[in-house]
Amino acid sequence: MKVLVIGKNGQLGFELAKLTPSSVRATFLDSNQLDVADMNSLDEKVSYERPEVIINCAAYTAVDKAEAEQYAAYLVNLTGCENLAKVCKKFNCKLIHVSTDFVFSGQKSTPYLTTDKPAPTSIYGKSKLAGELAIQRILPTNNLVIRTSGLYSVHGDNFVKTMLGLFRSKDMLNIVVDQVASPTWARGFAEVLWQLANSPEKIDGTLLHWTDAGVASKYDFAVAIQSIALKYGMLETAIPISPILGDSFPTPASRPNYSVLDQGDIETLTGTRRVHWQLQLERMLVSLKNQTRVKDGK
Ligand SMILES: NC(=O)c1ccc[n+]([C@@H]2O[C@H](COP(=O)([O-])OP(=O)(O)OC[C@H]3O[C@@H](n4cnc5c(N)ncnc54)[C@H](OP(=O)(O)O)[C@@H]3O)[C@@H](O)[C@H]2O)c1
Repeated sequence: MKVLVIGKNGQLGFELAKLTPSSVRATFLDSNQLDVADMNSLDEKVSYERPEVIINCAAYTAVDKAEAEQYAAYLVNLTGCENLAKVCKKFNCKLIHVSTDFVFSGQKSTPYLTTDKPAPTSIYGKSKLAGELAIQRILPTNNLVIRTSGLYSVHGDNFVKTMLGLFRSKDMLNIVVDQVASPTWARGFAEVLWQLANSPEKIDGTLLHWTDAGVASKYDFAVAIQSIALKYGMLETAIPISPILGDSFPTPASRPNYSVLDQGDIETLTGTRRVHWQLQLERMLVSLKNQTRVKDGK
């Protein structure tokens, strides 16, 4: 099985590289080697590699910056997807594309089904939805769009690492309590993506959701990060964390208040049981601690 992974240097690209199955011959490309917005370069790379499956982890993910950089966001998240779908059609290859809970408005109070109508409220969410629709239009039966939420990894920038930095530098923190989703360790998600890539017959135009199990507000998540980091000696002292409402912490992009994703029967489809986010968070923090130890030569 030959697979091309695009977006090598992102959180998910990094985790996919760590878990590449022995049955797969994978090529990973970063944004310097391949710009998804450049059709000629994409055509050249795919024509050379001739993968059976492409996994697209490349995206414009700066949610707040996107409000001022609409063109840049759409260039990657829409034009990039159009290009990928066209090139897959031309070379008869299948496309796994990753999307986001931010395609939903967040007005519901029960988990979003894949059949629920998206209504994104941010440029990032709108551009990601446009990308999903372009793929489904151009490559109707050879794609698999899979939405996830709140990704974090030892690699790259994310909420967990930001919080660890803030716990070390601040005396107290206010964290938003009325934005609820399912934090998801990119390592576990990467495992699922490899399972799907390894079963190309499952890449048949289906829209899927995958997140870790359970739900948490940003406040709950921050409290858990601090508590687990203290347990493993990654922080010396606890600081007080107070819940605040999102309205009192305005950001350039609005975020869904509730974006929990219903998973349907994805466990049956992938043969993988979802793990609770608290357990995955603990695994990630242990992995981060070990990585830091190796770096420090301890
Ligand atoms: N992070 C989350 O919380 C979250 C939540 C839900 C869904 N998702 C989705 O999950 C996927 C993976 O997210 P992630 O957190 O791994 O993202 P990430 O860490 O921001 O990585 C995105 C990667 O895309 C690359 N990229 C950007 N523009 C490109 C272009 N024109 N051509 C080729 N590569 C380009 C970036 O390269 P450079 O590093 O060189 O810029 C970066 O390595 C994305 O589709 C994202 O929308 C993420």
